[in-house]
Amino acid sequence: MKVAVVYESRTGHTAELAELIGAAAQELGHEVGVFPTGKINLDYLGDADMVFLGSWCHGIFVLGQHPGDGGKLLAMPGVWGKPVAGFISYLLAPGKVLDKMADVAEILGGEWIGGRNFKQTNKTDGLAGFVVAALDAAEERLGVPAEA
Ligand SMILES: Cc1cc2nc3c(=O)[nH]c(=O)nc-3n(C[C@H](O)[C@H](O)[C@H](O)COP(=O)(O)O)c2cc1C
Repeated sequence: MKVAVVYESRTGHTAELAELIGAAAQELGHEVGVFPTGKINLDYLGDADMVFLGSWCHGIFVLGQHPGDGGKLLAMPGVWGKPVAGFISYLLAPGKVLDKMADVAEILGGEWIGGRNFKQTNKTDGLAGFVVAALDAAEERLGVPAEA
């Protein structure tokens, strides 16, 4: 598949996560492009089969968590019915930020296929499994036949 990884990051943690997710998808044989929201290659995104959409967790640590700079996520071009998997970098308590990320994906016209929170101090924890599961879910949505 052609995979786009699009993210918003203030201090670099989500950017690093985006690169790790992109590298994992590439290792599985997919074509990958990784873009911050401000520098999306629109031709690439338009052709992509699925999207990983990432941001940082913004809240007051006990409640109100939502994707950081959500306005910039919402300002990106729509994702036109593509399967979208979310990823969030957080520090201590992500709360229900993934529910909010699902809302963002749906407002953008994407089909939410699930997401995962990643602690900024342990970015690789569960990352490989998340990427495999998201790609599998996207292929299933798109009707790509499973490999023998
Ligand atoms: C204003 C602000 C609010 C934050 N709120 C939360 C929060 O509610 N829960 C949490 O776990 N982390 C919170 N964080 C921490 C960031 O989500 C975390 O450091 C993240 O890894 C930053 O990603 P970035 O380097 O891509 O910007 C907050 C950070 C900032 C600047």
